[in-house]
Amino acid sequence: MLSLFHALVWWVACVVAALNPLCAPGGNFDMRYWNLQLPIGSKGHPTTISSADLQGCCGYQNWDYFFTEHSDGALVMKVPGSPSSAGCVTTAHSLHCSTELRELDPANGKPSSWDPNQAVNRLFARLACSQPGDGAGTVVGQIHIDDSVSTKPVAELYYDADGNLTVGVERNRTGGNQVRFPAGHVPVGQTFTYEIRYESNVLSVIIDGGCPQVFPTFQLDAPRSYFKVGNYLQGSTASDVHFFEIQVTH
Ligand SMILES: *[C@@H]1O[C@H](CO)[C@@H](O)[C@H](O)[C@H]1NC(C)=O
Ligand SMILES: *[C@@H]1O[C@H](CO)[C@@H](O)[C@H](O)[C@H]1NC(C)=O
Repeated sequence: MLSLFHALVWWVACVVAALNPLCAPGGNFDMRYWNLQLPIGSKGHPTTISSADLQGCCGYQNWDYFFTEHSDGALVMKVPGSPSSAGCVTTAHSLHCSTELRELDPANGKPSSWDPNQAVNRLFARLACSQPGDGAGTVVGQIHIDDSVSTKPVAELYYDADGNLTVGVERNRTGGNQVRFPAGHVPVGQTFTYEIRYESNVLSVIIDGGCPQVFPTFQLDAPRSYFKVGNYLQGSTASDVHFFEIQVTH
């Protein structure tokens, strides 16, 4: 009979083997769900890599920003610093540089969004933040509003220089008045999981499989939204985030 210990070893081996260090990130992560924004390109127009170009073991990688770690197969996303310290490139509406995946409709590879009143809208990730950047650190997951007027996130999960996790929630669709709530603490470099849910019009975050922490959404009133996941630097020094699992469920 297989002991619990052997079952565990087998399970761990399978999970580890699931990440092939010889593949680009597209060989280990389902890139039908994502395109990639990089902190390079021209000001206001950061370079975007399409889902089609990211997919598969021979998909896109870039040794400065987005690549597979040879030791463990992790997907590494790096940001060199802030626009003023590192000369990196932001979107028209942001002061911060990011190496970040943006949710797509896997059926057609186009940017998609969903209704927060649906029963299931979840972003799950297993990650380690070896270098959060100084001060406010980096945003490792977010829900972004998808409408023609708003350029704001609904909520952002921050991992700061000390490993504090906080959830920032906008008060309304115009934005500019984000409220921050403590959500946990994970020592810098330690692997953890998060799940961000925005479903049945309730926003919640689960850290390391704990209880859902529910956050108010003020006057947001369930705007159509999409997920982003990666490394959206808020500080000014370089940041480095390693992902071992990324899962979207609707
Ligand atoms: C992290 O949280 C601790 C305890 O609340 C606080 O003292 C520290 O300043 C926080 N770190 C950052 C970078 O804000
Ligand atoms: C949204 O919040 C901002 C910042 O608090 C405020 O200036 C603005 O008037 C609010 N917009 C609406 C439509 O309530």
